[in-house]
Amino acid sequence: VKEIKSSDYSIFIGKNTFNRLNISKYSKIAILVDENTNRDCLNYLPKLHNSITIEISSGEKNKNIATCEFIWNILNTNNFNKKSLLINLGGGVIGDIGGFCASIYLRGIDFIHVPTTLVGMVDASIGGKSGINFEKLKNHIGVFNNPKLVLINPNFLNTLPENQLKFGFSEIIKHALIADSNLWNCLQSNSFTSFCWEELIYRSIKIKNKIIMHDPLDEGERRKLNFGHTYGHAIESYYLVKDKPIMHGEAVLMGMLMEIELSLITKKDKREIQNYILSNFNLPPQPSKKALIKYLIKDKKNISEKINFSLLKSIGDCSYNNFLTKDEL
Ligand SMILES: NC(=O)c1ccc[n+]([C@@H]2O[C@H](COP(=O)([O-])OP(=O)(O)OC[C@H]3O[C@@H](n4cnc5c(N)ncnc54)[C@H](O)[C@@H]3O)[C@@H](O)[C@H]2O)c1
Ligand SMILES: [Zn+2]
Repeated sequence: VKEIKSSDYSIFIGKNTFNRLNISKYSKIAILVDENTNRDCLNYLPKLHNSITIEISSGEKNKNIATCEFIWNILNTNNFNKKSLLINLGGGVIGDIGGFCASIYLRGIDFIHVPTTLVGMVDASIGGKSGINFEKLKNHIGVFNNPKLVLINPNFLNTLPENQLKFGFSEIIKHALIADSNLWNCLQSNSFTSFCWEELIYRSIKIKNKIIMHDPLDEGERRKLNFGHTYGHAIESYYLVKDKPIMHGEAVLMGMLMEIELSLITKKDKREIQNYILSNFNLPPQPSKKALIKYLIKDKKNISEKINFSLLKSIGDCSYNNFLTKDEL
């Protein structure tokens, strides 16, 4: 088992992470699952006495306040108090909604993330952000609040649908490009099926964890993690409005391809990134830059009509707060 220390909690990665689960101090425990993690993942957890299971329906559309009320209602009915614990067993949706519900129930009870998707492991469970969607606005209501522990068991990936695994990989590629050229070389020299997940997840989390420790509240350096996401979010919205939603990972890969065009990196590096992404992933057609402008100008990170990009300085290094007007684009 490998350990990464974050600000005030640890992240354990490995096949025997569950022996790190010390639950003796909790009076009651709830395990939050969706129908898929209930079926495929719950059996891997040790049997916990005093625990109940709360199942919500899977999917981004359920990451809303109605689902929170459903969860809080069950906690209340079962007399959960300040000494209770919530374990979030699932992907980013479970982590986000569980983290949010626990953070404000009784002004905050402890929670633990047990991520079961690749996105959950390398991204959503790391960094202390949680929240829900509100009136079609993604992650509009939420908090910064850390879990007590993150337990990552790569075995969960065995049952994950293939495209979830594949496009979850986009955040690992992003982490390599913004901060670790060695990891980038390692990605390039391995085929997608030959990775040691434990090692890869560890190296990827190390990168995000270091950045968020420097800037927990997203006021500066943390923006590096937005590389590929300014165009990426615009592309996601474009396809959503067309009623042909695409995966976040697909949009981020396309966003990174567009944003390397704005980055001041060598032609050789540009070609290397393009080749890697285009030969490993089958992506939807890229919308025209013109069609994306109306989504870009709504981006939360903009300042007075200027669009905020995080751009590569070289492979393994990234700058943030690069403001471009729509004419410059
Ligand atoms: N808080 C953050 O910092 C942060 C960062 C990145 C993403 N997110 C959020 O994460 C969410 C996306 O997370 P996601 O990609 O994990 O999607 P998800 O949670 O919707 O999970 C994807 C699907 O896989 C199923 N599933 C999960 N684990 C499984 C397993 N081991 N075996 C079989 N099926 C399994 C789920 O039931 C679901 O149907 C978004 O809401 C996003 O906003 C948050
Ligand atoms: Zn992302």
